[in-house]
Amino acid sequence: MNTSVNGPRTLFLDTPEVARLIHTVGLPASLKELVELLRQDYLRWPDFQKAARVAAYTPDGVIELMPITDGVRYSFKCVNGHPGNGRYGLPTVMAMGALLDCDTGMIRLLSELTLTTALRTAANSVLAARALARADSRSMALIGNGAQSDFQAIAFRALMGIKELRLYDVDRHASERLRRNLLASRDFMDPFQIRICDSAERAIEGADIVTTVTAHQGRAEVLSADMLAPGMHLNAVGGDSPGKTELDPGILTKAAVFVEYPPQTRREGEIQQMAPDFPVTELWQVLAGLVPGRTDRHQITLFDSVGFALEDYSALRFIQSAAIRYGAGIRVDVTPAQSDPRDLYGWWLAQGRHEPALQQA
Ligand SMILES: NC(=O)c1ccc[n+]([C@@H]2O[C@H](COP(=O)([O-])OP(=O)(O)OC[C@H]3O[C@@H](n4cnc5c(N)ncnc54)[C@H](O)[C@@H]3O)[C@@H](O)[C@H]2O)c1
Repeated sequence: MNTSVNGPRTLFLDTPEVARLIHTVGLPASLKELVELLRQDYLRWPDFQKAARVAAYTPDGVIELMPITDGVRYSFKCVNGHPGNGRYGLPTVMAMGALLDCDTGMIRLLSELTLTTALRTAANSVLAARALARADSRSMALIGNGAQSDFQAIAFRALMGIKELRLYDVDRHASERLRRNLLASRDFMDPFQIRICDSAERAIEGADIVTTVTAHQGRAEVLSADMLAPGMHLNAVGGDSPGKTELDPGILTKAAVFVEYPPQTRREGEIQQMAPDFPVTELWQVLAGLVPGRTDRHQITLFDSVGFALEDYSALRFIQSAAIRYGAGIRVDVTPAQSDPRDLYGWWLAQGRHEPALQQA
């Protein structure tokens, strides 16, 4: 029962509701809107109080808290990364998050962020690739064909004009699943030419863009420096935690490396393999036109993506705005709404008069 004075004030969306919302908005339109919100927020980079995420590491994975604020709104995401979760029937990555008003601390939005993280990561990859990949890029190798990969593929098809997709995963069933899903998405997306390859080396042959989005608890070497061709853009998404990387360090010395927030990426990204002063360029500075992105057709560029709190701030903004537009979600009380805000005890006593006591389960 709702006992708030003015009705519940926090908008709540669970995963099925966000899934319905994305169907309503449309997946390509959602990704497009997210790219624009991300771009706007990256351009306001100096306005944000930023911090590297707070991570708790265990042998099986990591649980991370990702806060950020621009002084008007505060957001956080709680997310995990457990590459072995499949054995429990759970996804590798699961998340939830909130958006709060800074002037009062009121929680305005509480939302699932598992599906939303896949969308925001794909949108972020496209935003970076637009600045760093060759504009005439048409083929992409996608290495690691798990939960994130469909969204990466669709974002690059819809927003970057990628037409040819070359897939590789150590588990061939994963690539076949991805191909089936992409074929089933033809009613809202132009078709791809899709080839499933036997090795990462075969997959990247002739690719303009290479996206690595594998999950492995440890140092993997999905790509080595001798596999790269001049002019490639690498979008390295899967290495995102200390001791968890995807690329041969030789690649980092061959490429111009772009990152989100250096204090976090130096600990978590591919560049954790390099010296602390290894030269990198911050993506926001490229987007703001302060420094160049790709400087010539033959350059190899690398976006060492780990996922930064600003991207979840933008994603929560997207969920809030789309939910209000389409009347999605429900209003819930996650804080008490008392007629006398200082009388928390009186409010609690009144709850007992209105609500039957809970029975032990
Ligand atoms: N940078 C970011 O913002 C960001 C956001 C979300 C997820 N991630 C990371 O992306 C990775 C993928 O996430 P997911 O949800 O798709 O995981 P997932 O477990 O659903 O899929 C991972 C896939 O990688 C494959 N794989 C593992 N090792 C491989 C190798 N050496 N070569 C080829 N394929 C290999 C697995 O077989 C699996 O199909 C995770 O490491 C996750 O932490 C990063």
